[in-house]
Amino acid sequence: MSNFVDVANENGVAVVTIDNPPVNALSSHVRKPLYEALVALRDHPSAKAIVVVCAGRTFVAGADITEFGKPVEQPELRAIIALLETIAKPTIAAIHGTALAGGLELALGCHFRVADQGAKLGLPEVKLGLLPGGGGTVRLPRLVGAAKALGMIVSGTPISAGEAKAAGLVDAVFDGDLLVEAVHFAGEMAANGGPFVPVRDRNDRLVESDLAAFDAQAADLAKKARGLEAPLACAEAVRNAITLPFGQALATERQLFQQLVSGDQSRAQRHLFFAEREAAKVPGEDLQKRKIGRVGIIGAGTMGGGIAMAFANGGFPVTLLETSEEALQRGLATIEKNYAVSVGRGSLSEAAKQQRLSLFKGSTDYADLAECDLIIEAVFEDMAVKKEVFGRLDAVAKPGAILATNTSYLDVNAIAASISRPQDVLGMHFFSPANVMKLLEIVRAEKTAPDALATVADLARRIGKVAVVVGVCHGFVGNRMLAARGAENEFLLLEGATPGQVDKAFTDFGWPMGPFQMGDLAGLDIGWRNRKARGQKAVIADTLCEQGRFGQKSGRGWYRYESGSRESVADPDVEALIRAKAAERGIAPRVIGADEIIERTLYPLVNEGAKILEEGIAARASDIDVVWANGYGFPVGKGGPMFWAGLEGGGRIVERLEYWYRQTGRAIFEPAPVLRRFAETGSWERVGG
Ligand code: NAI
Repeated sequence: MSNFVDVANENGVAVVTIDNPPVNALSSHVRKPLYEALVALRDHPSAKAIVVVCAGRTFVAGADITEFGKPVEQPELRAIIALLETIAKPTIAAIHGTALAGGLELALGCHFRVADQGAKLGLPEVKLGLLPGGGGTVRLPRLVGAAKALGMIVSGTPISAGEAKAAGLVDAVFDGDLLVEAVHFAGEMAANGGPFVPVRDRNDRLVESDLAAFDAQAADLAKKARGLEAPLACAEAVRNAITLPFGQALATERQLFQQLVSGDQSRAQRHLFFAEREAAKVPGEDLQKRKIGRVGIIGAGTMGGGIAMAFANGGFPVTLLETSEEALQRGLATIEKNYAVSVGRGSLSEAAKQQRLSLFKGSTDYADLAECDLIIEAVFEDMAVKKEVFGRLDAVAKPGAILATNTSYLDVNAIAASISRPQDVLGMHFFSPANVMKLLEIVRAEKTAPDALATVADLARRIGKVAVVVGVCHGFVGNRMLAARGAENEFLLLEGATPGQVDKAFTDFGWPMGPFQMGDLAGLDIGWRNRKARGQKAVIADTLCEQGRFGQKSGRGWYRYESGSRESVADPDVEALIRAKAAERGIAPRVIGADEIIERTLYPLVNEGAKILEEGIAARASDIDVVWANGYGFPVGKGGPMFWAGLEGGGRIVERLEYWYRQTGRAIFEPAPVLRRFAETGSWERVGG
């Protein structure tokens, strides 16, 4: 036998064990011996049943991603599944860990599936802009019904063993030794006698499908897909499973898969997938990490509360510090309320809520932070206040404790320089709501010790964050580029566009919302306060704020909001204000098209990204894409701004930026040298490293 596939005989049951660490991916060196083993066992008289199981920590978690984009070596997974379906004796997939993508499809080729109670099963291909191309869309509905299959395939979210049992995806769930139980189960099935019907021939769950209800469900999903092709193709493939004979539906699934895999969207989503893995590689990652037990958070406001929840959700005990007992209780009450909402929604059990709440310790005394290994401040965005907080930390924190700031814009080097241990200081810039948003910018200051950086990067992964290491500059990667994206917003309005037109250009592009809708959601007063603090002005936004129009929270902002609704309605008063401000400046309105809106917002976004690369604030273009896809809603089907620049064409971007630079003289349009080089070479790689 091969090193990757082993066959053993357990009381007449053949046990086929796949052993391809770390996740038992279906690499060609697994597929070949697996196929051969199954052929031999199919005809072997002494094997009364076949159990397929995996060594290590998980069942097959999918294809081998290193084989992506290379010519496929035979046998393909589809051939293995087809072979399984020709076997007359009972075949059983024994699942622990996760059965994902091709792994679950392999299991669907078996007559039976049994699972460890902690197992998870799913078809996440949609997250790479694909559909399950190994028969998943055609077989899964035959076990769980079309509606459930559609939900699983379009969301890509795995389900638990218990849910899989209830849905009909697995036949038994065990909490003992999975292999022992599976062999026992196989023996019983063999003793029951056949015929054993392969999933492909089971039509009872399909017959009961309600096509009209299915179409309504699919139409709803299409609306939410925001221009992504894969969810629609998934729905089409599952529909085919209902309406077409098995073989035809399978062939159509293949065609749809081929279309997706060769398209730009899947390319973009696979780029992001690899970009996230790449971003996880930080300088010093192989260094000994500092031990992190208890985490201290200073400030129990919007961010502090969310950050504290993120750590408690990851199992860390948290000390939450505030200036007064009253502020502390307010913060803790908000946290408790947020957990209660999750319980109400059914996404968290009451017991889990209590367990998480038990991890919180509130305090108003800095001395209580002495037992923390990591302390993150999330106090007001004010350098004097931050320095005061760090001064106190310097006095109480244990030696080697990592001291982090959640500042959005302030100079982390200056904060670090204000205390006696700058090597322990870095930025941890979370996004709001911090317990939900996956992105974390880890800000590496001049003197940050490499092991501190590596510790925090590792920790971020453990609490489910996607971390990107960035350098110090005003706004770091994300907020600095956001400023460049929004620099032309008011000019576009003054020259003739409406907030609605600008926002529509954004949502048509694939963003969840446009900049004016986002402003209304976040609250216009925040930017107003920041501008005042920095002595800056915004002609229209300032006036809106002076009129008390702060956005959704005051029912009026760039738009109107009818009592309590989040739906933005165009407001003639705002349009009149814009025209009046334009007239004061002698600007005659003209028609502004969607192309111009994109050129004047998203091209500067790319240009700023190029400057950030040039300055070494981000280590790789793909890191910038990770920031924008995870923190700012950049459409994943376009792969992030730097990947999208390639789709759009670097040459075109440079040419149009030059045009707008000539027209306006504004620096955001002046093409960065790195962007010019990208236009020539098609690569963001820095020459000479
Ligand atoms: P917030 O105003 O909601 O909360 C700040 C909290 O800090 C208040 O509860 C206040 O009582 C407390 N506080 C102030 N001084 C303190 C001190 N010396 N010791 C202990 N507690 C103190 O503000 P928010 O929005 O949570 O922002 C906090 C920090 O996070 C700021 O630096 C901000 O720039 C940053 N940030 C904010 C984001 C957002 O979306 N709101 C996103 C990312 C970062």
